[in-house]
Amino acid sequence: MSAPTLELEIADITESAPEVSTLTLKHPEGRVLPSFTPGSHLVLECSGKANAYSLISDPVMPTSYQISVLRIHEGSGGSRWLHERQPGERLTARPPRSAFAPQLKARKQLLIAGGIGVTPIFSHLRAAAAWGIPVEVLYAHRPGHGAHCDELKTLAPGRVRCLDSRAEFAAAFAEAVIRQPIGTHLYCCGPEPFMDIVVGTARGAGWPPGRIHTERFGIDALDPGDPFEVVLTESNQKFTVPSGISLLEALEKKGFDIPNLCRQGVCGECVLPVRTGAVLHRDHFLTEEEKESDEQMMCCVSRAREEELEIAL
Ligand code: FES
Repeated sequence: MSAPTLELEIADITESAPEVSTLTLKHPEGRVLPSFTPGSHLVLECSGKANAYSLISDPVMPTSYQISVLRIHEGSGGSRWLHERQPGERLTARPPRSAFAPQLKARKQLLIAGGIGVTPIFSHLRAAAAWGIPVEVLYAHRPGHGAHCDELKTLAPGRVRCLDSRAEFAAAFAEAVIRQPIGTHLYCCGPEPFMDIVVGTARGAGWPPGRIHTERFGIDALDPGDPFEVVLTESNQKFTVPSGISLLEALEKKGFDIPNLCRQGVCGECVLPVRTGAVLHRDHFLTEEEKESDEQMMCCVSRAREEELEIAL
């Protein structure tokens, strides 16, 4: 049985920053769309691929969804395809899912964004402002490439800093990370090296891991990978996973209903047991030891390191 889908119509497209398009999506008959948890994403079918995009719009009884999409020139093509869409066209989506939800017990939220990682941070800020939770935002972006800065500042006047130099961001974060009240939770989304610095600095300042939350970028930023053969030992099937298609997508096309949530190698939902073969692990869920054992894999992002994988499915 395949997962339920939503048909959505593109109501509007605006440019929020160079190479960043903001799409407003509505039900074709104007119905209210499913509500969602702040930090949720929408999985859109983009020319045969499924890509996850963070929702930046109001999560309660929404009459539209908004996503902001950075055009990634060297990605698997999903963002380029979305950038070519026009208002009035329809898209197929899976209902919103959450893998980066805010902690309701947080005394304060320190929200850190880098580049297009501002999208789930925008959603968290919107919720914090609505719920009256103290919040502080540092948003690092390239000069002239800050998306949604004005909207962020309107949501939390005086508590949002958009910083377009690395040195300025580093100084602001180093100062912010040591003066937060106990009970503050840190949320961060941005490029991998950016998040490594943020998390490393916070850990170095004594933040416990349970108060640091990260959202990794989508699979569109991963290279499309080489084709590989899959043997399903329980259902006695063998097929090829082409370049640019994940094993999860290939299994869904064959009619398998594989549990999944983030589709970005973060949540651990899509784990599959591996019988034989070397896995090219690209997830952020398994430990290094688990990756070395090659006994399981996250089929939304990971692929075969060699020509063939045997999966116990
Ligand atoms: S769906 Fe979340 S790790 Fe694959």
